[in-house]
Formats: sequence, structure tokens, C-alpha cells
Amino acid sequence: MHVPRRFDKAHTVADFRCLAKAFLPQPVFDYLDGGAEYESAMRNNRAVFERVRFRPRTMVDVRKRSTETELFGTRVAAPFAIAPMGGLGLFWPRAEIAFARACAAANVPYGLSTGSNSTIEEVAAAAPDAQLWFQLYVFNDEAMNHALVERAQASGYRALMVTTDTHLFPKRHRDLRNGFRSTLSKTPRNILSILRCPRWMWHMMIRRRLPAMVNLTLAHDRPIDRMAAASYFLNERRPSFDLEHLKALRRQWKGPLLVKGVLRVDEAIQIRNCGADGIILSNHGGRNLESAAAPLEVLPEIVDAVGQRMSVLIDSGFRSGNDVVKALALGAKAVLFGRAGGYAVASGGEAAVGRLLDLMRNEVDRTLGYLGCTAVDQLSRDYLLFDRGLPGSNASPALTI
Ligand SMILES: Cc1cc2nc3c(=O)[nH]c(=O)nc-3n(C[C@H](O)[C@H](O)[C@H](O)COP(=O)(O)O)c2cc1C
Repeated sequence: MHVPRRFDKAHTVADFRCLAKAFLPQPVFDYLDGGAEYESAMRNNRAVFERVRFRPRTMVDVRKRSTETELFGTRVAAPFAIAPMGGLGLFWPRAEIAFARACAAANVPYGLSTGSNSTIEEVAAAAPDAQLWFQLYVFNDEAMNHALVERAQASGYRALMVTTDTHLFPKRHRDLRNGFRSTLSKTPRNILSILRCPRWMWHMMIRRRLPAMVNLTLAHDRPIDRMAAASYFLNERRPSFDLEHLKALRRQWKGPLLVKGVLRVDEAIQIRNCGADGIILSNHGGRNLESAAAPLEVLPEIVDAVGQRMSVLIDSGFRSGNDVVKALALGAKAVLFGRAGGYAVASGGEAAVGRLLDLMRNEVDRTLGYLGCTAVDQLSRDYLLFDRGLPGSNASPALTI
């Protein structure tokens, strides 16, 4: 497929966002770009980065630098991954495969969502070198959960991430106004917004139909259709997932087990005691709970509590390599990019995601060098200066301004 390389001129995530906005029908762009309710959690996810600044060390030999790190026993080229996102097929045909291949080429992990538009098996077969992590949404039907985990295991996924912060259906004002419910319904208004995007229409026509949550369409006694799968996805999530369920998952899954959606010290400790290998601090990019704390705000206290015994990863609001370095200096092991990846894939598929990953790795590398570090494990809170009110400032009162 010929893809005009408009993204070659993208230098920031904001540039990719502009390209995505121009390409996607407005309800689809809003699904990617928007947040929960009044979007205050989403805005705060970005605002917190402004309150952490660097104290560089300048007289260090930084000619040889490395952005590599180790995640769950595997060497990766950079301390970041692509976060799981459902419904990606609306942004680009076979978007999950584009992500998996771009991440394999960049040697960083890719998180496949339960709500993906290519199956668990298709993605694994299309990107055999990729480090794939499978993200599980827990459903009421235990047989469904069991089958999804088995399929990920059989297909060679390296880690399982169970997402615990989306047990209720979120209220997203933009989606409500657009009549968007997990997939694009064929209302006159949506059809009009599609007609305004001929390039998107052309790309989608390659698939000949709107994407479905194929992991779910095929997982029933009889295959179900696109709308039935979307409805199952929305209505059958289990609002009672607890530590006993987590222990059962621990027994079933043989590889690294991560819990995604953690924002509290006490829960982090409980998760560790259930035998999980890692947590992903996340407020789902501000897409679920209005006014949820930004993960960066709670990162230092959670790292202090469990960081020695498990890997603490983080997402929500990350838009640059500079942001990544701040989280690593606060003790995170790695960062997941959500919307940044979504904007990139909608700007030109696999090649555009490749460019995004390259830009991010480059930014991490340059920031490291400016700080006087030659490897990511040299980063510490000593390199940071905090505004009053950030929990990190309690941990290092001398650094409070
Ligand atoms: C369009 C979209 C779909 C998402 N779908 C999922 C999903 O299926 N499972 C999940 O655990 N998180 C999902 N997320 C949340 C991301 O994994 C991640 O936590 C969040 O995007 C991080 O914030 P950021 O977008 O500001 O980087 C989704 C996010 C977006 C933007």
C-alpha cells in the first residue's frame, strides 16, 4: 500500500497529533484524543511534568551513551513500550500488526489489547520477532478469561498485563456527543464525518468493513458479529475483580504478570504479595476516573514502597523522551506510550510508528547526555528539582523549591 510520508516532517508528538486530526473522522479522533468527563485528569497528566525540572551535571564524559535497559529478563533498546489500545483498526488498517512490527524493529515491547482488531494469533504470526505483551480485560465469564490467557500463552506472548481500572463503563463527553460507543455506529452524523475524510475512507475500504474486536467475535460457541462483540466488550466486564482472582491468574500465567491501573501504595503492596512481577501506574490516560491522580504524582511513594521487590512501570500523559527521563529518575523502570502511538499510527502506519519510536529514543538519549548520564540506571531523584506539592518533594525535602 502506498503511504504518503507526511509524517517525515513530524518532530514531536504534537506534530503526529495534527496529522492524525487531519486524517481521522472527528468521532474517531475524539475517541483517541479525549478523556473522561471534564478531562481534568487528562490535563493534569500533562501539567505535572511542568512541575519537575532537571539539575544537570555538565562535566562528565558522555560520548558513549546507551538507552538500553532490561525488562523482565529481556534486553530492550529503550525504556519504553507501546501501551495496549483497543479499537486501533479505526486509526489504520491492521494497526496492531503495524505496531508490533515497528516495535520489533525498534526492539521495544508492544502491548496488545483484548479489544484489538487483529487476533492474538495474527499479531504473533505477523511479527515473530516482536516482544508482545498481552493485556487482559477481565470479563464476567471465567471461561472467556481463561481462553484469552491460554491463547496468549500458546502464541508466545512474553508478559500478561491485567487492567483493573476499567471495570465500569466510563463517561466520556466527547464520545457521548459524537454517538461513539466503542465502535463507530452508522448514524447519519457519523456517515457525514466519514465522507469528509476521503483518505481515511480509502484506507478503510482496503478492509471493506469496519474493524471488529476479533478476539471476542471468535471466542464464543458460535462467532458473533461486530456490534455484538462491541456490546460484550462494554457490558460484560467484571466489576468484582479482586486479589483472589489475581492469585488465580498468577497460577495460570507462566511468564511475567503485571497489573495495570495502580495508583495506591497499599494496593501495590497487595499486588506484590499475590506474586505479580510488576505494576503499571496508570489512570488510563485520564480516560476513566475524572480527577484521578496523575501516575507521576504517586510514583515516588510507590517506588519507595515496592520498587525493590517488583518493577514499577508508568503511563498517562507521556509525550516526549524528556518526560520518560523524569519518570525514570523518579524510579520507574519503563514508560508506556498510549495516545502518542495512536497519533503516530494514524499518521502513516508502521513507518510512522517507527519514526515516533526513533524520535523518542533519540530524545531519551540526548536528555541523558545533557544530564551527565551515560545509561538509564544512573538516573536518580538527585537530578530533579520539584515544585512544592509533588510527593517527590517530600521524599527529598532539600530539593523543594
Ligand atoms: C484509544 C485508546 C484505547 C485504549 N484502550 C485500552 C485497552 O484496550 N486496554 C488498556 O489497558 N488500556 C487502554 N488504553 C489506555 C492505554 O493503555 C494507556 O493507559 C493510556 O493511553 C496512557 O495515557 P496516554 O494516552 O496519555 O499515553 C487506551 C487508550 C487509548 C488512547
